[in-house]
Amino acid sequence: MTFEHVTVLQKEAVDLLNVKEDGIYVDATLGGGGHTGVILSRLTTGTLYSFDQDETAISFNKEQYKDEIAAGKLVLIFNNFRTLKESLAERGVDHVDGVLYDLGVSSVQFDQGDRGFSYNHDAPLDMRMDQRQELTAKTIVNDWPFGDLVRVLTRYGEDRFGKAIARKIEQHREKAPIETTFDLVEVIKEAIPAPARRHGGHPAKRSFQALRVAVNDELGALEDSLGQALELLDVGGRISAISFQSQEDRLIKQMFKEKTAEPELPRGLPVMPDEMAPDYKLLTRKAIKPSEKEQEENHRSASAQLRGIERIRLS
Ligand SMILES: C[S@@+](CC[C@H](N)C(=O)[O-])C[C@H]1O[C@@H](n2cnc3c(N)ncnc32)[C@H](O)[C@@H]1O
Repeated sequence: MTFEHVTVLQKEAVDLLNVKEDGIYVDATLGGGGHTGVILSRLTTGTLYSFDQDETAISFNKEQYKDEIAAGKLVLIFNNFRTLKESLAERGVDHVDGVLYDLGVSSVQFDQGDRGFSYNHDAPLDMRMDQRQELTAKTIVNDWPFGDLVRVLTRYGEDRFGKAIARKIEQHREKAPIETTFDLVEVIKEAIPAPARRHGGHPAKRSFQALRVAVNDELGALEDSLGQALELLDVGGRISAISFQSQEDRLIKQMFKEKTAEPELPRGLPVMPDEMAPDYKLLTRKAIKPSEKEQEENHRSASAQLRGIERIRLS
């Protein structure tokens, strides 16, 4: 079995974790195991817990890292990373030295034609990373009220034609359900004026991204998980997070900012009392971007942004 996914910011994201050889680490997004492999190479007696909610990723890495798994150095967890705290607690872990996120879907998920992630492959409208989940893109497209469709397409897809697309979807689904990715692509094309279709990439790109984010509740899962990761960090522990779309990046940036913000110095106090000082420090004032070389070699990396935070005290 092969897993054709080129890891983005592989070294940079792991460097940012500052891996201790005996530490406890989490790779929240195992995928093809690219980051997992680098973290493993830096551990001696430490342990890595790697999550994925997609069974394909878990079974591929079970084989790829069977020696590390047998040695107890790597533990694979087939679950959503929003269960971070609970899944680790079940394994007796209540603090960690680092958590890495490399968000979104892997190239393998895109390229598996039957998964419905890609507007280039005709497939049932599915888009679930976790096949055990009930909600699919087909349900959203055919059953969700007009207002919710507009919200998904405009907010998650940041598509200025979101409302027009939702209206077209409504017209079509009244006659017959929209079953496949190609059916949906046709509906979207009808909704976007011809001059606009000639610019800005594939006309369905934004809507497909929006539906994927909604099906997998990607922003909700990230917010839940980051909150737990911040709590789980030991002093000196770090989070390293790569995002590929602006809303994810905004969420990470905002959460990191809140945790690291210095409160205003109380009147009459010359220095900040320890108990008021933030427990975390920002490792990246500006997001780290892939080098030009990486962007040229792997176009998917162009939108990547890496941010990091470190716990500096326990309050
Ligand atoms: C971009 S890929 C990671 C690639 C990996 N870093 C590598 O180097 O091969 C993202 C992976 O995270 C998984 N994923 C995304 N959101 C998840 C979530 N909420 N819980 C668990 N896994 C998730 C996806 O199924 C996918 O396999």
